[in-house]
Amino acid sequence: MKIDIVSIFPAYFEVLGLSLLGKARNRGLLEVGVHDLRDVTTDKHRTVDGTPAGGGAGMVMKPEPWGVMLDQLLAASPCVGGNAATANAGASVAESTGDAECAVGSAESAATGPLLIFPSPAGEVFNQQMARELATEKHLIFGCGRYEGIDQRVFDEYEQRARVKLISIGDYVLNGGEVATIAMIEAIARLLPGMVGNPESLVEESHEDGLLEYPSYTQPAVWRDRAVPEVLLSGNHRKIAEWRHEQRIARTKRVRPELLTDQTENQQAF
Ligand code: ADE
Repeated sequence: MKIDIVSIFPAYFEVLGLSLLGKARNRGLLEVGVHDLRDVTTDKHRTVDGTPAGGGAGMVMKPEPWGVMLDQLLAASPCVGGNAATANAGASVAESTGDAECAVGSAESAATGPLLIFPSPAGEVFNQQMARELATEKHLIFGCGRYEGIDQRVFDEYEQRARVKLISIGDYVLNGGEVATIAMIEAIARLLPGMVGNPESLVEESHEDGLLEYPSYTQPAVWRDRAVPEVLLSGNHRKIAEWRHEQRIARTKRVRPELLTDQTENQQAF
């Protein structure tokens, strides 16, 4: 998977070199490009924002730098498809590989070309199902807004030429899309084939099947008078699976009752 990120604070994304994500990049499972929006400005002050049309508080990101940057990224996409290819028919398009998985220039291309994601508190709320869907994409472009957001014409323009999604990571307001982008990339990248050593460890996680995960324990068997539940040391795998399933249901009932449905509650423990 290829991920491009556009931001006026590229330093935020240094964390993407750490831990599992760093490993995925080193192993070639994930390619990440971070682009400073100010690099495509043309004025001395590298201006990216302006006062809101119609008045009001704060600043709005100007459309021109976004236009230049997104045209470049779409044209250089490993899956240039549909109208995106006509955006900036320059050298970088010619260099594009025309990868078969990207359905270049076909009717499918609108569905298989790059996906533009704008993190926004006004977007659809991100969840595990969305992470699974995004993990099947070939090329994601994250556009991180700041201030009061990005000029609406940017969304209108690129909706005509690519798939565009506004995604929120929850019902609270951050200062910009950077932290939301990092959260989404971590959730998506760990689902890429070959990322997690033991794919079974993904199966019983919170949110994978609508239930929260069971509590975990390790050695020592007793710590500060607190013992690991006996069943986990019993060696009886059927009993352990049952216990864990009960724990998942009890925890979900207690913490997130709205997640429980007849179907999630009646799932088999094994
Ligand atoms: N930008 C500001 N707040 C956000 C949120 N909650 N989710 C995604 N992007 C944001």
